[in-house]
Amino acid sequence: MTESFHSVPRLGVCYYPEHWPEENWANDAKQMFAMGIRTVRIGEFAWSRLEATPGVLTFDWLTRAIDSLHTAGLSIILGTPTATPPRWMLDKHPDMLAIDEHGHARGFGSRRHYCFSYQPYWAECERIVTAMAKAYGEHPGIVAWQTDNEYGCHDTIPSYSDAALKGFQQWCAKQYSSIDDLNTEWGNVFWSMEYNAFDQIGFPVAAVTETNPAHRLAFWRYSSDQVVAFNQVQTRILKKLSPGRDLVHNYMGNFTQFDHHAVAKDLTVASWDNYPLGFLTRDGYTEVEQATYLRTGHPDSSAFHHDLYRGCNHGRWWLMEQQPGPVNWAPYNPAPLNGMVRFWGWEAIAHGAEVVSYFRWRQAPYAQEQMHTGLCRPDGTLDSGGLEVSVLGEELLKLQAAKENDTVFQPAQASVALVLDYVGLEAQRIQQPDGKTFDPFRFAQQVYSACRQLGVDLDIIPTDADLSNYKVVLLTSNTISDASFCEKLKACSAHVVLMPRTGSKTSNNGIPSQLAPGVFQSLLPVKVIRSESLPDFVQLSTPMGWVAQHWRETIESSITPQTTFDDGVGFYYQQGRMHYVNACLNEPSLVDWLETFFKQRTIETIRLPSGVRIKKTQGATWVFNFGPDSIDIQTENIFIGSSRLPPGELAALRPGHFSVQSNDL
Ligand code: GAL
Repeated sequence: MTESFHSVPRLGVCYYPEHWPEENWANDAKQMFAMGIRTVRIGEFAWSRLEATPGVLTFDWLTRAIDSLHTAGLSIILGTPTATPPRWMLDKHPDMLAIDEHGHARGFGSRRHYCFSYQPYWAECERIVTAMAKAYGEHPGIVAWQTDNEYGCHDTIPSYSDAALKGFQQWCAKQYSSIDDLNTEWGNVFWSMEYNAFDQIGFPVAAVTETNPAHRLAFWRYSSDQVVAFNQVQTRILKKLSPGRDLVHNYMGNFTQFDHHAVAKDLTVASWDNYPLGFLTRDGYTEVEQATYLRTGHPDSSAFHHDLYRGCNHGRWWLMEQQPGPVNWAPYNPAPLNGMVRFWGWEAIAHGAEVVSYFRWRQAPYAQEQMHTGLCRPDGTLDSGGLEVSVLGEELLKLQAAKENDTVFQPAQASVALVLDYVGLEAQRIQQPDGKTFDPFRFAQQVYSACRQLGVDLDIIPTDADLSNYKVVLLTSNTISDASFCEKLKACSAHVVLMPRTGSKTSNNGIPSQLAPGVFQSLLPVKVIRSESLPDFVQLSTPMGWVAQHWRETIESSITPQTTFDDGVGFYYQQGRMHYVNACLNEPSLVDWLETFFKQRTIETIRLPSGVRIKKTQGATWVFNFGPDSIDIQTENIFIGSSRLPPGELAALRPGHFSVQSNDL
């Protein structure tokens, strides 16, 4: 292996040598290196060129591609090609396709055409991955392997195939001691849904009306476990045949259809694919947010995911794909503001990315993604994204050359953690009598955003993370009633903030016997005796000025609430370092509430101008202006950027006092 990835961030790019004439490869590689690019991801969709006919492996071209890239000084992240099985595979395994909930096969002609439960396909993957790992596992240019590509992309986690049905029935038989046990745990007596045997269990779809939430959560967990097992087939081989190389998978944005923390246990690094403008127009942002951040992306969207994925593998994370210009797949695909391609790169670095890799080197002139930009245009000329990456590359290498900048890239310990639990999220999503506009994942993002508007850095962590370094742990409704996690909360020294619906569901997606917040009642004496959801236009106020919306709970407690809503329902309960916030506050109230809360816990806050975010590393404070107005920074210590930041610009300051003001006069 040529380099260690642990200390300094590197730029990278996704490259498809099989799309371009071989005589271009060396030049492409040379140009990448000259731009400051040091890693290149290849191979993840190349199966039809690696094995054009069943059993005949043609690796010679890939060997030449790897050698050519390596010779130019690039480190290679080699993708396993299992997201794109070749056409002949279907003749061999006609049943390998995923089936949608209406019973239609999700056929050949694009990608991800396989069912996670179909084990003969696992064997095919095992075969190709073994062959690749034997060929390249110890190649000095290979620094990492990416398994498959974006598990779940195009809604490909659930499959309603025969293989999935059998697998699900067997999974249920393993989870529950008997069919009676399952009937009891799921509450199947309700509507006479009781089964006599495991092989009677079907999928939780295509019933007359809503299916049992326990059944749905079980099927979600089964499907998630299949992803974990599918990934393990590959990681087991790669660990053995390619020692010392990182194992990585590229996750997606705003995607929670499987337990990413569980998959992470078999990887060494988490990575994800960031398309800030695509997410803005696709993923439920308001029209005002879309208009304000059309060309910069929402100020918390990338950062939230950077912090989420940083929490998956104990701090190690890469940005595998970064938007280079307009994309092709969102409802609208605006061009980024000039400078954003560089800006998003620095933002990822500030959040601790070890690799920032752009998708893709050159725009493809054909097929599905021909309207998706690259760093270069289809004719090979450098596009504006490519020019910005060159600037970033030069800046990064210059910064890294000076020893005094070592700490600039070292993460600083965050005081605040936000817990994110995929199973709990799904439990809440399956049955949420709380209006169309509430989503537990978005709620976590809103709480995150409120903290970030106050300049507070967060880690986003799983329930099994070490809590010992945090002053505050925030639970934003997505945690099920979980006794071992509750014990950890008791044992740590942090202030624990439970937000509404925390612990309101069991692992079988029912109501805990002691009522919400379930086992967490042992942290402080609060019991939810009523919960209600409210339309967006309803706002409930308190004399302290806080306004709640969407969701409110009525609490029975021996603790006196801090205040009451206008209709007499108590709000906010505290005992020692345990806090229960029994309503969703609207954005200004949440920021306000958190500001007071953080101040009382001696966590430094700073009211940032709209659209401005900061992130601290050990040796720098990074200031990012996503907002529509320019801002002024008061400090002596700027080493990247300048004191006036127009929209879409960033600055890095040496640690020390500073202030930021909007220039919107
Ligand atoms: C990602 C995917 C890439 C490419 C890209 C386009 O989701 O991993 O292969 O399709 O989107 O934006």
